[in-house]
Amino acid sequence: MDHIKSPGENLPVNVIVRRPCCMKNKEMCAPPIPHEIRETCKELILSEDQMRKIMERLTDDINKGLSKSRHDEAVVKCYTTYVQDLPNGTEKGNFLALDLGGTNFRVLLITLDGQNFDMKSKIYAIPQSLMLGTGTQLFDHIAQCLALFVKDLNLQTEVLPLGFTFSFPLVQEGLTEGRLVRWTKGFNCSGVVDEDVVSLLEAAIARRNDVKIDVCAILNDTTGTLMSCAWKNKNCRIGLILGTGSNACYVEKTENAERAIPGKYVAEKPHMLINMEWGAFGERDTLDFVITEFDKDIDDNSIHPGKQIFEKMISGMYMGELVRLVLEKLVNSGLLFGGKCPSELRKRGKFFTKYVSEIENDPKGKYTNCREVLAEIGIRNVTDQDCENVRYVCSVVSRRAAHLASAGIAAVLNKMGEDNVTVGVDGSVYRFHPHFHDLMTEKIGQLQNHKFDLMLSEDGSGRGAALVAAVASQKR
Ligand code: BGC
Repeated sequence: MDHIKSPGENLPVNVIVRRPCCMKNKEMCAPPIPHEIRETCKELILSEDQMRKIMERLTDDINKGLSKSRHDEAVVKCYTTYVQDLPNGTEKGNFLALDLGGTNFRVLLITLDGQNFDMKSKIYAIPQSLMLGTGTQLFDHIAQCLALFVKDLNLQTEVLPLGFTFSFPLVQEGLTEGRLVRWTKGFNCSGVVDEDVVSLLEAAIARRNDVKIDVCAILNDTTGTLMSCAWKNKNCRIGLILGTGSNACYVEKTENAERAIPGKYVAEKPHMLINMEWGAFGERDTLDFVITEFDKDIDDNSIHPGKQIFEKMISGMYMGELVRLVLEKLVNSGLLFGGKCPSELRKRGKFFTKYVSEIENDPKGKYTNCREVLAEIGIRNVTDQDCENVRYVCSVVSRRAAHLASAGIAAVLNKMGEDNVTVGVDGSVYRFHPHFHDLMTEKIGQLQNHKFDLMLSEDGSGRGAALVAAVASQKR
């Protein structure tokens, strides 16, 4: 029988055979996205002009936030943190840290010794009933977890310094006092707004009276991330969270922190960390030119409507739901799943943000993760075209989030005006999304001219809390 030659046979080995379609590199061919689907998603794609406008408006808001006279009109409040020292590697000792504000609540014991560092930690669930209950219940629960942890390690007789990472907006009047401005994300406990959170924690520990804790610092997770990364990398001057919520902090000149209370900081020290609370950006219509029907829906149905607009467009608490809303609209218009919508896809919160990362992790033209995710929400026997469309929606939503965060970081880099700034980043969205890092590196590079890099924080803000506590306890 004649041997039928396959294309490329008998050619010298170094000649590249062009295969039809995109079968090169074993990549599969992906079906094109129908025009109507692109149209539905159009408003979720930001132009460079829009991103530059976002940068301008954010810069304006940062300046207002820092200023004494214009702070009241500011949406991005730029709170003073009273953290003025970056770690220098000489920090030593055992420290406890609490980390409240993301999806999990963590208690940690951190041992610092020069460049060595050891960490023991335990994660405790915070049930939704506690997130929405009374402040007393919440702080009693935190104190209980802390006491259990300390007793487990047999440290109950030692007075341990503690750094409290509390990832909500605080007005601080020093390192160890912070009044809650408002709850964000999934929390809404009564009796805490306007109160000093450190006093609430101390009172809960005192009610138990079974462990000895010295709360030496309260800080935001962005501050913790910056400190933690700065311990490893001296250039780290911005801390960024892309997780359940989103926010950034940066190193500002002390003289520009106009609202810092004299006597509570050292004027001679050149720097002060500023917790921007950029999640609130957009609250006074500043982002209306990019807000879509999907964002409005998210906001209207959130537990803090009208608040944290930028955060709702970026962070993990909302990303999956944004995708779900777009998918639902496509099904309703008959453009997806043959127009049939399984009941799970109609339910709020049923499309998790982790699905977005999983779906976008499939190699081009393959839909293994996508089919698994869809099966989990009751959608089976889907076509490749459906999968490709779902993936397209995920990528549009996550790309927008990456671009918004990039516009934010580009604005901060311009404001700082320095080269070689490292941005320490933490949070599940950045950590688990397959393209977030690359998308941001590319976009920040396009939007501003300073050299920078993005560094993943290794251990969350735990080490950062210990470092702030270390400096504070040394001062005492
Ligand atoms: C909070 C910030 C926090 C961010 C990330 C936001 O909702 O207001 O304080 O840094 O979430 O956790």
